[in-house]
Amino acid sequence: MNNTCDRRSFVKAAAATGAAWTIGQTCFAAHAADVKTSPMSNVRIGLVGIGSRGTLLLSVLLDLQGVEVKAVCDIIPERVAKAQEMVTAAKQPEPTAYSRGETDFQRLCETEELDLVINATRPWKWHVPISVAAMMAGKHAATEVPAAETIDECWQLVETAEKTHKYCVMLENCCYFRETMLVHNMLRKGLFGELRHCESGYQHYGARARPAAPGRPKESKVRTANSYPTHPIGPIAQWMDINRGNRFDYLVSMSADSTGDNPNADINTSLIRTLRGQTITLYFDTKLPRPYDLIYRVQGTQGICMATADKIYIEGRSPKPDAWESMEAYYKEFEHPLWKALGEKALTRGGHGGGDWLVMHRLIKALQSGTPPDMDVYDAATWSCITELSEKSVANRSSPMDFPDFTRGRWKDAPPIGIIGI
Ligand SMILES: NC(=O)c1ccc[n+]([C@@H]2O[C@H](COP(=O)([O-])OP(=O)(O)OC[C@H]3O[C@@H](n4cnc5c(N)ncnc54)[C@H](O)[C@@H]3O)[C@@H](O)[C@H]2O)c1
Repeated sequence: MNNTCDRRSFVKAAAATGAAWTIGQTCFAAHAADVKTSPMSNVRIGLVGIGSRGTLLLSVLLDLQGVEVKAVCDIIPERVAKAQEMVTAAKQPEPTAYSRGETDFQRLCETEELDLVINATRPWKWHVPISVAAMMAGKHAATEVPAAETIDECWQLVETAEKTHKYCVMLENCCYFRETMLVHNMLRKGLFGELRHCESGYQHYGARARPAAPGRPKESKVRTANSYPTHPIGPIAQWMDINRGNRFDYLVSMSADSTGDNPNADINTSLIRTLRGQTITLYFDTKLPRPYDLIYRVQGTQGICMATADKIYIEGRSPKPDAWESMEAYYKEFEHPLWKALGEKALTRGGHGGGDWLVMHRLIKALQSGTPPDMDVYDAATWSCITELSEKSVANRSSPMDFPDFTRGRWKDAPPIGIIGI
């Protein structure tokens, strides 16, 4: 597995951004957690990609205090003009427009005085070039999911973040869902005992099986793989302390044959084992008719819950032995503090069950307070690389694929993510 510094791809990334920057003798630079940022009252932002997601993120940004949207970029000029209108309607100065083609984000990164560049482009092939361009130009980067399409690209993000001492955050909104945060809180309070197994999946027929909206570009690759893993894996990785005392060890993956014209598998099932001997079942299931469900099953030595199904059983606490109960009482007693404080606001001001508002709120809060964001470049790389690992495993009769250690051993000393604040 590629767990060495990939100089060739890094040079390629640097060249792609047009940055005049030479690479040092070693790629072992400071830990991204060592990024030093001073608190800032106003976060100056450039937004690249103003389709459906970018428009939604823009509305959340304009709802937050201490945010200035200074530049907007899309290859479609009308979308840029629409974004400018949204910003001025929110009583902010008109942001500079960038719409001179597919690489105009580079001009934005190099010209504007910004703290953060957010990228919500599709197709995904632009995610890494935009994040890299932002960091090389001295800005923090935030990217929509997935952060990268390949393991090489994941390394480019890690190496660029380490070299430039900039944050690279993947905007994984599912980590801020009410149910995933409740589970996090309950796990930390020991309700499930020792965590042994999780099950989750991107099971969303609507997302990918139906014809794409007119004018929307297709993803660059059609893969027989677990092709959209970050929504289901993000919260689980946080529950399991991945890259913070624990690590994904290896993965095996299997795909059911495609029955239609699309060569991608009907369903991909991947199994992940951690160094602590825990297991995860991860599905990618978007081609067959079915209701949406991310599952979020968590199972420990004391109990189990199926979060999206609102079912829980805790040994010695649930009223009937070996019988499910609703999670209602647990929401009352163990609601995550972030949800207690801001859940109602998040639900009314952003989509995805409040996750969109909270993910942006927490990132902006981190930059304003000069503290590290909840998710770092190692999370972005570890969660995104599952697609390529599963693709290779499927192509090799489900052979085990080792996870790269993007932290290069620093996972051993990194403290687990606690109960994040407000
Ligand atoms: N976190 C979530 O819940 C969630 C939900 C939906 C989509 N997404 C992610 O958000 C991203 C955007 O998805 P979407 O549904 O908004 O897609 P979209 O097609 O509606 O919008 C993408 C936009 O990017 C623009 N674009 C493409 N290449 C560009 C370039 N080189 N420079 C500038 N602009 C460019 C397009 O013109 C378009 O306006 C995707 O990565 C997707 O995976 C995340």
